[in-house]
Amino acid sequence: MVTLEEVPEIVSKMTLEEKARIVVGAGLLGMFENPPPRVPGAAGETHPIERLGIPSTVLADGPAGLRINPRRENDEKTYHVTAFPIETMLASTWNREVLEAVGRCVGEEVREYGVDILLAPALNIHRNPLCGRNFEYYSEDPLLTGEMAAAFVNGVQSQGVGACLKHFAANNQETNRFLIDTVVSERALREIYLKGFEIAVRKSKPWTVMSAYNKLNGSHCSQNEWLLTRVLREDWGFRGFVMTDWFARDDPVEMMRAGNDMIMPGRVHQVDKNRKDEVEAIITAVKEGRLDEEILVRNVKNILRVLVNSPSFRGYVYSNKPGLGAHAMVAYEAGVEGVVLLKNNGALPVGREARVALFGTGQIETIKGGTGSGDTHPRYVVSILEGMRERGLRIDEELAGIYTRYVDEMRRTDEYKMEKTMFGEIFKPLPQDFLAGEEIGKFAERNDVAIIVISRISGEGYDRRPEKGDFYLSDDERRLLEKVSKAFHERGKKTVALLNIGSPIEVDSWRSLVDGILLSWQAGQESGRIVADIVSGVRNPSGRLPTTFPMDYSDVPSWSFPGEPGENPQRVVYDEGIYVGYRYYDTFGVEPAYEFGFGLSYTSFEYSGLRVETVNNRVIVSFEVENTGSLPGKEVAQVYIRAPKGRVDKPFQELKEFHKTRLLNPGEKERVTVELDFSSLASFDGGEWVVEKGEYEVRVGASSRDIRLIGRFTVN
Ligand code: BGC
Repeated sequence: MVTLEEVPEIVSKMTLEEKARIVVGAGLLGMFENPPPRVPGAAGETHPIERLGIPSTVLADGPAGLRINPRRENDEKTYHVTAFPIETMLASTWNREVLEAVGRCVGEEVREYGVDILLAPALNIHRNPLCGRNFEYYSEDPLLTGEMAAAFVNGVQSQGVGACLKHFAANNQETNRFLIDTVVSERALREIYLKGFEIAVRKSKPWTVMSAYNKLNGSHCSQNEWLLTRVLREDWGFRGFVMTDWFARDDPVEMMRAGNDMIMPGRVHQVDKNRKDEVEAIITAVKEGRLDEEILVRNVKNILRVLVNSPSFRGYVYSNKPGLGAHAMVAYEAGVEGVVLLKNNGALPVGREARVALFGTGQIETIKGGTGSGDTHPRYVVSILEGMRERGLRIDEELAGIYTRYVDEMRRTDEYKMEKTMFGEIFKPLPQDFLAGEEIGKFAERNDVAIIVISRISGEGYDRRPEKGDFYLSDDERRLLEKVSKAFHERGKKTVALLNIGSPIEVDSWRSLVDGILLSWQAGQESGRIVADIVSGVRNPSGRLPTTFPMDYSDVPSWSFPGEPGENPQRVVYDEGIYVGYRYYDTFGVEPAYEFGFGLSYTSFEYSGLRVETVNNRVIVSFEVENTGSLPGKEVAQVYIRAPKGRVDKPFQELKEFHKTRLLNPGEKERVTVELDFSSLASFDGGEWVVEKGEYEVRVGASSRDIRLIGRFTVN
């Protein structure tokens, strides 16, 4: 077993080739002439050096749970994991404790399945609602992003395994992801795109960071010394190691110099004949004097100082039996806290006696999460229909039977067969408007409420489209909504749309058709139970939007997405600068459909007693939140700051703190106290962080547009 103290000595004994092997992954295991993987389905391994007592280590995705193969050849046993809600839904909890608890569970699964480093959390900013991997990311806001990521990493790493912040940085689209050049100002980088990473690095000391595929202002992130050394290590004090994203371009020697310590998965020449074996390239560069061996030594030490703490180095004997039962409860709780109630004209909760007609094939084919490396393989996924049944809701079983047979039959046809791709199973959306008008009338007659499920799936490798069937409802979905709503409304009954989606869709043109909208995101394996308990009122929704739902795609400020030229984007210029998400909508007076921080509850909350004090360059904000309704519930109190007019242009307001209350009973109050350092008020201007003098406004509220209390303080 190698210890931290022994690292310098071990490295001094290494041959040049051994050093080069430490900084390059072992390739795709079980393919080409490479050895079989230690953990099938894991994304990569590091090279062992047996002579020096250095074992290999295992790295696996991902953000919604560990991604490994559930079955192995010639093995009866199964290796299922817990499928947690997608990251965007986790961020909708606004609850650091939930994120930490989820992290602990994932960390235990990582350790007990023989993995050393989890390739998560992913924390790119939701620059545009169409990014295909937004579901894997938390929010449009860097503070919420950083806080969620830090809590998750702390949870994961408490289990003796490592986490990996990815994709560093400004990796906000999938279109041409390997080569797109992201052109963005240093201010927008520092304040928006890097800020979440900075918070997470400072608060949770992640073992590793993954550099992104894209170029950043002309140079590949994995070859960007400014990003990986200057900012990450020197400015923020990062002490772990940096690895590339899988098969990132393009020059191993530049990567070494920039401070990208490890190249993953390694052996790129096996999959791409135009590329060179990285180990050889590094050895040759050192021999030819193009790469200083000291740089290689630095990178090897960065890696080994982290890996000595890993289960593989410690000789940990793993069980292959993580506590999946207990983790399912955590996945359920996280999901319950992440459901966002967007609209409710007395439609929800439906009550235990209500007869419920469920429409939409998503009740059966409930989407648990997105595709690609953010996918997971759980033992089960409780669909919305199954969850409702299990929880004893009075489902119209005839209608459920019609849907079950319909989905089954359609999926047997050539046209709608499931397609297996390298990024997972692709579901071609089924036509939704197949029920005859009289039939819908019959179901409206005998049920009390209709719930119409609308599902979307997206994933790694492609972006979503501003088209019908994706960002907009398909004609088919709209017709179903219209017909069902008409039939139920004619009979004085309510309708609810249930959004089983990973990232915003357009809602404004159809929301008046329904009485309620429940955003249940992609909630992982416990999806149906989560939805059933919120719908029936057993649990009160307390999720809030971590990302804006715009009125229309044309309102989104990232006009340049996904870059130019249109047919094959090479470059994407972030013209909107820091005006991302609500920072844009609020500053330029653009009305969103549902604003950042928004979410309803089955109860109501009042805010009072704001106190704002400044002590030693810190602002202490305190206030009371009271449950003034008739059901227990949790509130997410948000603290926005509006800066004075000064040298630098500022957004209308920015989120600077938030607090989720405990479960408050009717009439119960909680005094909330949050503290901010003056430094958190700074803008990045002219190469440095600047805090403007003057009077700042403290805006406390239930969303970015529902401000309940205003106070002030002065910075001299
Ligand atoms: C993804 C990463 C992932 C890696 C390993 C890449 O394609 O971008 O997020 O960790 O594959 O699976």
